[in-house]
Amino acid sequence: MRALTYHGKRDVRIDTVDDPKIEQPTDAIVRVTSSGLCGSDLHLYEVLGPFIGEGDVLGHEPMGIVEEVGAEVTNIAVGDRVVIPFNISCGHCFMCDHGLQSQCETTQVREQGMGAALFGFSKLYGEVPGGQAEFLRVPQAQYGPIKVPEGPIDERFLFLSDVLPTAWQAVQYAQIPRGGSVAVFGLGPIGEMATRMAQHLGAENVIGLDLVPDRLARAAAHGVRTIDVSAVDDVGDAVRELTDGRGPDSVIDAVGMEAHGSPVGKLVHTLAGLMPDAVAEKVMQTGGVDRLGAFVSAVESVRRGGTVSVIGVYGGTADPLNMLQLFDKQLTLRMGQANVKHWVDDLLPLLTGDDDPLGVETFATHQIPLVDAPQAYEMFQKKQDGAFKVVFKP
Ligand SMILES: NC(=O)c1ccc[n+]([C@@H]2O[C@H](COP(=O)([O-])OP(=O)(O)OC[C@H]3O[C@@H](n4cnc5c(N)ncnc54)[C@H](O)[C@@H]3O)[C@@H](O)[C@H]2O)c1
Ligand SMILES: [Zn+2]
Ligand SMILES: [Zn+2]
Repeated sequence: MRALTYHGKRDVRIDTVDDPKIEQPTDAIVRVTSSGLCGSDLHLYEVLGPFIGEGDVLGHEPMGIVEEVGAEVTNIAVGDRVVIPFNISCGHCFMCDHGLQSQCETTQVREQGMGAALFGFSKLYGEVPGGQAEFLRVPQAQYGPIKVPEGPIDERFLFLSDVLPTAWQAVQYAQIPRGGSVAVFGLGPIGEMATRMAQHLGAENVIGLDLVPDRLARAAAHGVRTIDVSAVDDVGDAVRELTDGRGPDSVIDAVGMEAHGSPVGKLVHTLAGLMPDAVAEKVMQTGGVDRLGAFVSAVESVRRGGTVSVIGVYGGTADPLNMLQLFDKQLTLRMGQANVKHWVDDLLPLLTGDDDPLGVETFATHQIPLVDAPQAYEMFQKKQDGAFKVVFKP
């Protein structure tokens, strides 16, 4: 089959690789019909090279048709239309029972000290072949796949794999009081969807921050008050100006580790990029420093006693944090990979009606044949051609 594979920093290719096969009785094989490209893929593309093997298949936002099931998979059948959550979880361990599917104890990547295995996501998360491919082996298929109805286009359901539960978790963790205010840093797919959900759930004052003009415009078009972080002297002051001088009740950091603005983190990333992989891997793990620009601004902007919800991915282990401010401002801080399956029952009703309250059918800006994926990665990273959300069609 054809698949998008990793070959080095900013070097992904379409290769012919072996078709996946059932390996465990709990596996299924899915023929992929749509597969999203995510901001998380850009972390792999840019800085996480030391943790990815040459030829690894990327992608963690797939949906498709069940081709084959293992003996213990009884919840789905050949021919079913399914969306595959990006985290691989078992549904019957302590963590899954507690709604923490991204910490699943059956699939935890213990040798790396990490949580649940993820599709297409480096050695840190189990090096499981991903879904930017014609076919996908789905482990723990007795639980993971979300069966969706026939009829609407793929995009109606595709974002259940990641964007929707991730943005939903960000908003839930942000604990925005009814009628309250929230500032969302980063208006990529995750942040922008979080602004839509915050509005849907009754936040009165929804502020969005980014520096890409068409992303700011996209959010402004549905009533978000936007701030261009590259055009203001002090981000915190700009946010306070829109919140009676106090700061918002809640702040969501939907930027993650590639945030602009922190030169130290950039240096470590750049250095790690120049080292042999084995050395770089150690440097990233022990000395890893993120570019914390967005996170620091989030802490600075939120009102005293407010909540900061971090959904952007950070990967450093030696980050200097502003503990003084976190403590003094009495903040609540929540974060983590999305527990996809935990939120599906909340989300499905928003996707199956005649209306489309979250605008998922028109959410993607680009539908692209899988064979053109390498160019699409570059376009998405450089934010060219209005690339906001790209969906590959194998
Ligand atoms: N926790 C999870 O389960 C989960 C799941 C999916 C994605 N993510 C993460 O969420 C983040 C966003 O994902 P995405 O697909 O929307 O990515 P994206 O890269 O398209 O969006 C990030 C946005 O942040 C903007 N930005 C950069 N620096 C900024 C700053 N200092 N202030 C304000 N905005 C800034 C960028 O211009 C961009 O529009 C990524 O870190 C991704 O890895 C987390
Ligand atoms: Zn994703
Ligand atoms: Zn589990």
